[in-house]
Amino acid sequence: MLATEDLMKEHQLILKYIDLMERYAEFDLKDLIAPILFENANCFIQFIHEFADHFHHAKEEDILFRYLEIPGVLTHCNPVPQMLFEHSKAREFVRNMENAIQAKKINELTANAGQYARLLKEHIYKEDNILYPMAERGLSDEAKSSLLKEYIETDNRLNSHAIWLKYEILCIELEQQLNVQKETVAKSGYETRVIHKKG
Ligand SMILES: [Fe+2]
Ligand SMILES: [Fe+2]
Repeated sequence: MLATEDLMKEHQLILKYIDLMERYAEFDLKDLIAPILFENANCFIQFIHEFADHFHHAKEEDILFRYLEIPGVLTHCNPVPQMLFEHSKAREFVRNMENAIQAKKINELTANAGQYARLLKEHIYKEDNILYPMAERGLSDEAKSSLLKEYIETDNRLNSHAIWLKYEILCIELEQQLNVQKETVAKSGYETRVIHKKG
């Protein structure tokens, strides 16, 4: 079914941002001279709100999950409540990240970014390997084509082409910025000075 294939492609972009956010956080913890996650946190939060939550989670919750609740589709167990719980848990970690930015608490920001990353990686693994295959097996051909029709309409309404383009570009920019910062720190000899001080 094209809808789940498309949702899995979106997972790949979400995982790219998560990986990048973890590398920013790791850099902040090691090289406190340049807390760049702090400076760029709003970009990650904007991506999470707009792409991961409003665009991706909305399509799962409003379309796919609704079809899975049709009697007879899920025969053994219903993982949808757990998936919804994880979406709301993810939103909680993002709220904590926003509060940490307001309060200028870098450790709280990196801790919540880390928890968000771990949760979403596991969540995406479960959806790709358990939930979406269940949907493939359980939905009738008729339900699949009606789901796909709704999915395409929502995708168009949410302007999927523009949102993909915007966040693919931002991802490249954030990656470049991290590399530049790493080079700057390496050239400044900051790490050497830290080692020297310790000795
Ligand atoms: Fe999900
Ligand atoms: Fe998902």
